[in-house]
Amino acid sequence: PRILILGAPGAGKGTQSKRLVDAYDIEHVTTGDALRANKHTETEYGTPAEYMDAGDLVPDPLVNEIVKTALEDADGFVLDGYPRNESQVEYLEDVADLDVVLYLDVPEEELVSRLTGRRVCPECGASYHVEFNPPEEEGVCDECGADLVQRDDDTEETVRDRLATYRENTTDVIEHYRGTDEFVEIDGAQSPDGVWADVRDAVDART
Ligand code: AP5
Ligand code: ZN
Repeated sequence: PRILILGAPGAGKGTQSKRLVDAYDIEHVTTGDALRANKHTETEYGTPAEYMDAGDLVPDPLVNEIVKTALEDADGFVLDGYPRNESQVEYLEDVADLDVVLYLDVPEEELVSRLTGRRVCPECGASYHVEFNPPEEEGVCDECGADLVQRDDDTEETVRDRLATYRENTTDVIEHYRGTDEFVEIDGAQSPDGVWADVRDAVDART
């Protein structure tokens, strides 16, 4: 299946995308991870870090290129973190068709506590939450034993900026897809397992 997953920062897109990848054997195409891997690469627009650490969007040309290259060789995929504005929506329409568009809806205060409490593994990419999904041993990755870190943009101040950027730019993206046959709104405030049950039903119903 060709899946687009939408939602605010912290809505659980990454968490559910991992499950989709395992269940349907598809590619995880995520602009956030791709940008983090090249955070300090100089481009004609500067480095991605300058934008990301301020909670701003990275310029469209840099991000569009990532998506185009990744979708070109993907059979099935879950696209996560893109599109985030109207111009990215138009670009995506030219490069891929979608079977299902999932929108994870979560109230804003819940988003702040999810993001500020997130801890990630710098070695294997596993993601935890100090309260909602803690590792067995505090600060240590269950998968590989590495020390967990907080993402640079998960400080409370940058989280607030990311949410403001989301409201300004990406609310229109949700409205663009709402009302299309592919669109499914999911209550993202449930437990990860509860959200997953709805996600799987939505994908199975449309593929
Ligand atoms: P990106 O990496 O895409 O970040 P984001 O959209 O802000 O999303 P997150 O990864 O923070 O959240 P998520 O929804 O995946 O949540 P998760 O599952 O981890 O982008 C980062 C930056 O890159 C942007 O700010 C921008 O600068 C740039 N960028 C990226 N794409 C771009 C684009 N297209 N154009 C321009 N710039 C772009 O869950 C969060 C936490 O909650 C975890 O701790 C998790 O354990 C916990 N959790 C998950 N689900 C639940 C649940 N159901 N109940 C309780 N806790 C839960
Ligand atoms: Zn790890």
